[in-house]
Amino acid sequence: MPSGLFLSIEGIDCSGKSTQLNLLTAKLDANGIAYLLNREPGGSDVGRQIREILLRPGNPVSPTAELLLYFANRAQNVDEQIRPALAAGALVVSDRYTDSTLAYQGVARGLGQILVSQLHGIACRGTEPSLTLYLRIRPEVSAERLREQSKDRLEAEAGDFHNAVFAAYEAMAATHPERIVTVDGERSPDAIAADIWDIVSERWARRDR
Ligand code: TMP
Repeated sequence: MPSGLFLSIEGIDCSGKSTQLNLLTAKLDANGIAYLLNREPGGSDVGRQIREILLRPGNPVSPTAELLLYFANRAQNVDEQIRPALAAGALVVSDRYTDSTLAYQGVARGLGQILVSQLHGIACRGTEPSLTLYLRIRPEVSAERLREQSKDRLEAEAGDFHNAVFAAYEAMAATHPERIVTVDGERSPDAIAADIWDIVSERWARRDR
């Protein structure tokens, strides 16, 4: 059986991931490509319960508890969803994965990227995306979009927090160009979707090579 492929999609808040994931999964359906759409936080029954704890506005979750909850969610999804889907030869598309934890908890919360990497080893045990799409928008664009909606607990953080998240993504994209592909997210949804489809379909076609 051909192997599966693990793809993640990342970006700061309001980067347009949801829109792009809708467009991408429609393309995958139209092309008969079997996929699992994973979401973090969320993505499984247990994950959805953890998501509620993590994102409820005003919930007094401590920084370390927050970090561990994101990884508890991820460990559940790796075991229950991601590994079986990859073993069955599917494309796994994950709406956020450990790059989010490195950026939000490791850098913006100041818990440290070494600690995040150690927990990643425990929770994910080698299950890594081989391709990551970084949907890049500037923090000022994110702030403008956020102004127009009600905010969850993380979105309600101050501007400095979001600037730090952005800087962390920029640094990760520069450090891992072999895995992380930056996609300009400030264009029309259709133009972004066309780029994403080119990248994903090409990578899917050569997944066994
Ligand atoms: P979402 O809006 O993409 O569903 O993500 C919810 C929030 O959770 C978003 O503000 C980013 C944050 N987050 C972290 O802080 N750490 C993580 O590990 C993940 C997966 C998400």
